[in-house]
Parts: sequence; structure tokens; C-alpha cells
Amino acid sequence: MNNSLKLNNLSKKYEKNKSFKVLNNLNFEFKSGKIYSIVGPSGSGKSTLLNLISLIDVPTSGSIEFNNKKIDNKSSIENDNIRSKNIGIIYQDKNLLTDFTALENVVLPNLLISNNKSRSISLAKNMIKKLGLYQRLNHYPSELSGGENQRIAIARALINEPNIILADEPTGSLDFDNAKQIFKILFNLNNKNRIIIFATHNRYFANMADCKIKMIGGKMKITNERIK
Ligand SMILES: Nc1ncnc2c1ncn2[C@@H]1O[C@H](COP(=O)(O)OP(=O)(O)O)[C@@H](O)[C@H]1O
Ligand SMILES: [Mg+2]
Repeated sequence: MNNSLKLNNLSKKYEKNKSFKVLNNLNFEFKSGKIYSIVGPSGSGKSTLLNLISLIDVPTSGSIEFNNKKIDNKSSIENDNIRSKNIGIIYQDKNLLTDFTALENVVLPNLLISNNKSRSISLAKNMIKKLGLYQRLNHYPSELSGGENQRIAIARALINEPNIILADEPTGSLDFDNAKQIFKILFNLNNKNRIIIFATHNRYFANMADCKIKMIGGKMKITNERIK
């Protein structure tokens, strides 16, 4: 299936600063099979945009469409369901629940959509194995390095086989070698049905994307130039 994600006249203002449109009337279509990078200075709206796409926050006006179906901002239960089944999210840090082991963290999102616990556990184990951390299954987040935490976070984001993967500065807290490893994994997740969108401050990684988006003055600017 060819998945699509569309922004229609999407705008966002926050209650605390109503005179300022963080996102100003965005129109864009993300296509499956492609990887998108979002760059822009701190405060330019990268996280705001990713939070709207992940249905964690709602727009002030305009809409988001998944596969030609408009998201109804009022149905939060339905949207939680859409998110669980379709969207994998990775943040800069604090992705994992600290009182749960790596395995428990990865299995949780699958338990929410499945009632076969042993199957969920075996899926989670496999996912962690693929990310090279099988020997860390029973470790708590505090017992994992920053890079390992992010790899477990990726396993967690992937367990429900999402067709949209969103990563908000996923390597912002890592050194360059670990960041390279995370981006290598992220780029390998690309497939023809999937949309991958990541925000980063790192131009080296931003330039690896198929499509580069710069956030400027509440707008998205698509650029073919190398990000400098
Ligand atoms: N919950 C919030 N309430 C009020 N203003 C916010 C909130 N979240 C973000 N903002 C403001 O929105 C703008 C964009 O923030 P953000 O999307 O976090 O930018 P970026 O991720 O590019 O650094 C900033 O001016 C920020 O202060
Ligand atoms: Mg941000």
C-alpha cells in the first residue's frame, strides 16, 4: 500500500502566545518510500510540527490526512489508536520508562494492540535482537548507554511495524559515532510503504535525506541545496 500523509492549511498557535503563529498555513504531502529531514533554528517549530503529525497535539486550524482520511482532532481515543498502529516515535531522550526493562519497554506498545502476550514478547525479543542488544534484554534504561537507550527506543518505535516513523532530534544527546550508528539504522528502515521524518541540528545527517525541509518563519521551505 502506498501511504500518504498530507498537511492542509495547517497552522499552530499556542495559548500562551496567541499572536504568534508557530506554524503558518502549511500545505505539503509526504510520500511513502521517502525520508525527510527537518532543519531550522531552535524554536522554529520542528517539534511542534512533529507533535501535530504524531497526533499528540492538535492544530489551531487546518488538518492532517492519513491515506486520504482527515484526522478528527476531537476523537482522541481514535487518534491514540491510529498512533499505536501507524506511527513510531523517537525523541532525543527519555523515550523509555525508567522502571521497566528494555524488553518490557519494547513489548508495551504491542500489548496495547494485541492480546497474545507470548507473541508480543517474542516479537519484542526479535526486534531487540535485530538492533544488536539481545544481551541487554533485562537491563533497565539507567543500565544502558545513551546509544543503547536510543536503539531500544527504535525497537520500541518499530514493534508495531509503523508506516510512519517520526524522530525528533534522535541523536541530539549522542556523540558523532553513536549518532552515525543510529542514523544508519534509521535509514535502513526505509521501505516503499513507509514515511520517515526526522528533525536534526546536524547538517551531515540532514543532507542524507531524500527531501530536506527548512523551517523558516512558520513555513516549510523545501530545499535541494546542501544544508550548511
Ligand atoms: N507548549 C507550548 N506552549 C507555548 N509555546 C510553545 C509550546 N511549545 C513550543 N512553544 C513555542 O513554539 C515555538 C516552536 O517551538 P518548537 O516547536 O519546540 O521548536 P523547535 O523544535 O524547532 O526548537 C517556540 O517559540 C516555542 O517557545
Ligand atoms: Mg524541538
